[in-house]
Amino acid sequence: MGTFFSDPGWLCLTVTALLGGTILCKLKTSPGQVGRKVVCLVGLWGGAYLISLSLFWGLVLFSLLYFVMYTYFSGQELLPVDQKAVLITGCDSGFGYGLARYLDELGFTVFAGVLDEQGSGAEELRRTCSKHLSVFQLNITNTQEIKEAYRKVKEKVQNKGLWAVINNAGVLGFPTDGELIPMTEYKRCMAVNFFGAVEVTKEFLPLLRKSKGRLVNISSMAGGVPMQKMAAYGSSKAALIMFSSILRQELSKWGVKVSVIQPGGFRTNISGTSQMWEKLERTVLDNLSPEVQADYGQDYILSERSFLRLMKTSSDPDISPVLLDVRHAISAQSPFAFYAPGKLSYPWLCFASFSPTGIFDYLSRKIYTYSKKMPRVLSTSNWEDEAM
Ligand SMILES: NC(=O)c1ccc[n+]([C@@H]2O[C@H](COP(=O)([O-])OP(=O)(O)OC[C@H]3O[C@@H](n4cnc5c(N)ncnc54)[C@H](OP(=O)(O)O)[C@@H]3O)[C@@H](O)[C@H]2O)c1
Repeated sequence: MGTFFSDPGWLCLTVTALLGGTILCKLKTSPGQVGRKVVCLVGLWGGAYLISLSLFWGLVLFSLLYFVMYTYFSGQELLPVDQKAVLITGCDSGFGYGLARYLDELGFTVFAGVLDEQGSGAEELRRTCSKHLSVFQLNITNTQEIKEAYRKVKEKVQNKGLWAVINNAGVLGFPTDGELIPMTEYKRCMAVNFFGAVEVTKEFLPLLRKSKGRLVNISSMAGGVPMQKMAAYGSSKAALIMFSSILRQELSKWGVKVSVIQPGGFRTNISGTSQMWEKLERTVLDNLSPEVQADYGQDYILSERSFLRLMKTSSDPDISPVLLDVRHAISAQSPFAFYAPGKLSYPWLCFASFSPTGIFDYLSRKIYTYSKKMPRVLSTSNWEDEAM
């Protein structure tokens, strides 16, 4: 009690009240992860204070933290929208569709690339958005379409330049054990989630370098956290994270800032439809050798649908955390290198990076058990005898 209400104690309380007030006011205008980082900074400051023994050290710590926070907050100011031009890929549905509408409402000039120009998502964007939004065909695995998109964007932006590219288009593939995923699915995930994003980036970088703009790549929590059944998807998203991190370093000399978004689970079209699942199940079964098929059993493969169903029902229908983070990445003076929107996405990423592998694997097995079903051979008691 004595220490708490000593001179440094009062100083601490006053300063906490002042800083707390400032932070709360700032938070209203600073979307994304600002809140989480602020809580960490204030916690650090409080903790540091508790171990400080005198008014002198209290003041030193306070000045230091005030400086850090001042620098931090001045980078969080949002630049004016000013009809800046942004290109988004994969706007037919989900995040891309939501982002196109949200950024259009905020006053950006949006170039919305879609996989199907005649599809319902494209139609809806044309119908509901302002005249500053243009929808065009852009399959990111098709070099010709990427080049054509570049030509159209360059022609439209002219001297105004392109401010941001948001590589959003992506596919999940069929989540199952890595041994069972057909090579065609590994290649498809890489083709869209990695090579597609790389090719779009390379094509549009001359425009971004000119505007000293932003590159935002939508990866996934699965690109940083090893998740069972996600060997194809997770690997392609991990590759995208590494690509983005290297470009972040290389492009800093040009004034281009690069951010990676690693969302957790949100309810979009990513988990597919039952027709898609049926088709993918067939592909998986057709590509298995008789030996592997006998070891796993058809029932095990067909039970993977429960994972997709769970994914659909347990994910968050509100995608606004992703939209706010992308907006922050393209608008803040100093955007973050990484964003992790979604419940538990950030703690999981930290846990996967810093915890001992044994503990991580144990907990991961406990938490991510989607079905009790085991491969056929493992569920029969004589498996170990057979293996001998
Ligand atoms: N939803 C989540 O929980 C979650 C979590 C982490 C990361 N992500 C990532 O977020 C991004 C957006 O996904 P989403 O959740 O919004 O799913 P989504 O609704 O399926 O959106 C993905 C979009 O990409 C399009 N697309 C697929 N292949 C393409 C190609 N070759 N060229 C151009 N566009 C293509 C899809 O078109 P079609 O609809 O016509 O196929 C769809 O419009 C993806 O990169 C995904 O990996 C999502």
